[in-house]
Amino acid sequence: MNIQHYLNSVISEAMAKAGAPSGLPAAVKPSSKPQFGDYQANGIMGAAKKLGINPRELAQKVIAELSLDHMVEKLEVAGPGFINIWLSDAWLAKQADAALSSDRLLNVERADQPQRIVVDYSAPNVAKEMHIGHIRCNCIGDAVVRSLEFLGHNVIRANHIGDWGTQFGMLIAHLEEVLQAGNEQQAEELEHLESFYRASKKHFDENPEFAQRAREYVVKLQQGDEWCLSMWKKLVDITMSQNQKAYDRMNISLTPKDTMGESMYNSMLPEVVQSLKDQGIAVEDEGACIIRLEEFKNKEGEPLGIIIQKSDGGYLYTTTDIAAAKYRVETLKADRILIFTDTRQSQHMQQLFAITRKAGIVPEQIGFEHHPFGMVLGKDGKPFKTRSGETVKLMDVLDEADERALSMVQEREPSMPLDEQQKIASVLAMASVKYAELSKHRLTDYIFDWDAMLSFEGNTAPYLLYAFSRIQSVFRKSGISTESVQGPIVIEAPQERALAVQLAQFIEVLESVAREALPHLLCSYMYQLAGTFMSFYEHCPINKEGVSEETKQSRLALSALVSKTLSQGLDLLGIETLDRM
Ligand code: ARG
Repeated sequence: MNIQHYLNSVISEAMAKAGAPSGLPAAVKPSSKPQFGDYQANGIMGAAKKLGINPRELAQKVIAELSLDHMVEKLEVAGPGFINIWLSDAWLAKQADAALSSDRLLNVERADQPQRIVVDYSAPNVAKEMHIGHIRCNCIGDAVVRSLEFLGHNVIRANHIGDWGTQFGMLIAHLEEVLQAGNEQQAEELEHLESFYRASKKHFDENPEFAQRAREYVVKLQQGDEWCLSMWKKLVDITMSQNQKAYDRMNISLTPKDTMGESMYNSMLPEVVQSLKDQGIAVEDEGACIIRLEEFKNKEGEPLGIIIQKSDGGYLYTTTDIAAAKYRVETLKADRILIFTDTRQSQHMQQLFAITRKAGIVPEQIGFEHHPFGMVLGKDGKPFKTRSGETVKLMDVLDEADERALSMVQEREPSMPLDEQQKIASVLAMASVKYAELSKHRLTDYIFDWDAMLSFEGNTAPYLLYAFSRIQSVFRKSGISTESVQGPIVIEAPQERALAVQLAQFIEVLESVAREALPHLLCSYMYQLAGTFMSFYEHCPINKEGVSEETKQSRLALSALVSKTLSQGLDLLGIETLDRM
């Protein structure tokens, strides 16, 4: 159960009974300091002010209306009118026992009303390799997807790949030549899509005859010419099979069936534009079709014109996104739509929201959310580039992570067999890259720093994986498994209590991750939990002589719950655990 929500709703009710104006919630939060209890209600002061009465008196009245004895040890009016709340040890122990024995793991209930949620993430472009920035949208999007599914929602992954547009004429024309040139060049160029793209662009810019052919191919492609379509499909397939390798390597849960690229919406575009015109939202302007939005002004202070169809008939990125929104609402029946891209697309997304809301394509009750993320920077604070100034390719980052992790493992465990070293290193490598990404607030730019992400100190993957493997070694020493331990859990030491409180808060964290699309909240939670476990382990011996059997069972049960919470939490980030390190 979500303790914060529960306390908030019962205390809000008690406030209403005590005469507080309706619509003012109790505003229950986890307490900022241990001396203020486990939770605090901050909403009393606001209500008292509205009523023009003494807040401490109102707080007393609210407490008199509450019957929380089954779960609460103590309620106290503090400061100008806060209510501080201490959960009872017996209740916390019962929660922990129930969590341990629940097959849903950790007593996390599924959402009362599961939603259909479309999550648009990754979205690489065809004939280009994924680059360092794709670490962000892949990892963040996937962690949110997994968290939503764990909470019982029905998630539809929408990989909105860039697989349509005028550049395909040039790409098809170039592919034609590459295929004619024979196998060697073909293999070489197609494996390195980046150079394929650049070569075709160069060709287009320098060779008018080629450029002419490219333009003809665009037209033919749009008219549904079979040969052009087959060449186009080849380009999409080559790109996506390379991208799938990266997804698999990074344990990103996208599969080919999640691909819903821009081309999918192509046939909807004329009708989308027509209906926006019919509604009077879009207008003709010098042959083009534009939408003027009052909410967005240009430099001259006039409403910004957003083109949805060019005078040559071509459609734009925005037009496709409007169609995609329509498809997601009408066909996929989404209750909520999330899009992950970098912050540079924020304005585009705001315009998209304004248009689709105005046109009734996405009704108000459907959540339509852009979740932007910042940039990956080098140590110099500038966008992360290779030495020669090029964009860093995702696959190169993954290769380097493997190399660095392997030499780190070899240094720590020189006598370990090589295959074992490699196994540990490959888990550690992906974990470190992903966790470094996921542990940062998504909105901030962050510095890509190998030493920091591979460190065993601080909020890092090695630290967490090490904490997890420590727990496994406690169980090995005790001769039982985390699965068979039963408790019951008894709370005596403050470290045991601190663990039980944090364990009970897992659901709160997951619901915040799902609501705000902020996986770093889960990372911070796990980092704190691991730290609390370390101090519990120091102060509350398990396998020491003189520890009674009941105490030992209780502490093992708490440890098992920490272990399950960490492995579940890491799994939601798409990170594997290691029993030994
Ligand atoms: N392919 C786009 C890019 O690389 C991202 C697409 C994001 N999704 C969307 N519905 N616009 O910038």
